Amino acid sequence: LSGPLADTFGRVHRDLRISLTDRCSLRCTYCMPEQGNEWLARSGILSLDEIERVARVVAGAGITTFRLTGGEPLLRPDIVEVVRRLATITGAAGAPVELAMTTNGIRLPELLPSLVAAGLNRLNVSIDTLDRGRFAALTRRDRLDDVLAGIRAAQQSGLRPLKLNAVAMRGVNDDEMVDLVEFAVAHDAQLRFIEQMPLDAGHTWDRTQMVTREEILTALRARWALTPVPGRGGAPAERWVLDDGPHTVGVIASVTAPFCGDCDRLRLTADGQLRNCLFSTTEYDLMPLLRPTGPAAPASDAAIEQLLRACVRGKLPGHAIDDPSFLQPERGMNAIGG
Ligand code: GTP
Ligand code: 5AD
Ligand code: SF4
Repeated sequence: LSGPLADTFGRVHRDLRISLTDRCSLRCTYCMPEQGNEWLARSGILSLDEIERVARVVAGAGITTFRLTGGEPLLRPDIVEVVRRLATITGAAGAPVELAMTTNGIRLPELLPSLVAAGLNRLNVSIDTLDRGRFAALTRRDRLDDVLAGIRAAQQSGLRPLKLNAVAMRGVNDDEMVDLVEFAVAHDAQLRFIEQMPLDAGHTWDRTQMVTREEILTALRARWALTPVPGRGGAPAERWVLDDGPHTVGVIASVTAPFCGDCDRLRLTADGQLRNCLFSTTEYDLMPLLRPTGPAAPASDAAIEQLLRACVRGKLPGHAIDDPSFLQPERGMNAIGG
């Protein structure tokens, strides 16, 4: 039980994405069905104490970044307390962990001051379109103005770098790419375009319909000179400087240029399952360790770390979206956690 969290391909894991809830205030077509999903039962969702315990153990084992996701993490009633507890954790090397969040932005105006005071370090906000009608059609909720207010709050908070995420979709927002980048620049943020992945509830994803990295770059090059930023490390986004800088744009090309070979991520679902990949078909269940039933003795932290290491060892070299035998994961993105 020691040494870095290395898998059988030598990839060292440093990032844990923690899904705090599967619920969301939006219903993006690429993520959830219109009627929502059958939500996880509240009793089956990790408590504040359970999340903190797992987080301490994994930080001791080598995780240095926590990213809070959902569903929508700000829907969790105890979100400020979750941030406060996780922000105090120090990693194996004694340094504080980095604490980031990916959100739809809607509750930021109300919550951001408390989140910053509680120790949140970084924010990514999703915004796929700047058009109210398109936003309402895509998310099935008329809440663009709330998201825009959230992004202004993020800009004012001073948390940097501030990142904005846009899933590129044909016929939905593929004519808005330049506008989205200009919007991000005006808010001192980095726009990242994301290739859509097969994680939608309706299983309607189609490789031939997907807007690719190449198309995104072509659209952007019509407006800016793009100079690649070196040193991507394990980050999913490739980045380019716009003209002479200082602003940049990113592309997360998980389908046509996957970063699986450098992946340093693990996931924890809201119902206590460890996953070694967005697309893995195996989950490692922490619940029996966190909530032993019957005469079983409470599990030790070492048992939690053992399961974590088993999860890391079980990781495959990459997703197999292009394989004819590829099967979309059973859970939607909202339940796996972005
Ligand atoms: P930064 O650390 O700030 O760069 O965040 P991030 O890009 O890792 O996180 P974010 O939650 O903003 O996710 C942006 C996009 O990257 C989403 O579409 C995620 O699903 C995708 N993404 C994040 N991690 C992984 C991963 O391990 N594999 C794949 N395929 N996609 C990922
Ligand atoms: N493909 C790519 N990105 C997705 N996201 C949600 N579903 C998908 C998908 N099918 C994005 C959200 C958010 C981030 C957490 O993941 O837009 O920005
Ligand atoms: Fe909610 Fe995010 Fe899914 Fe959209 S992508 S429905 S914002 S969880």
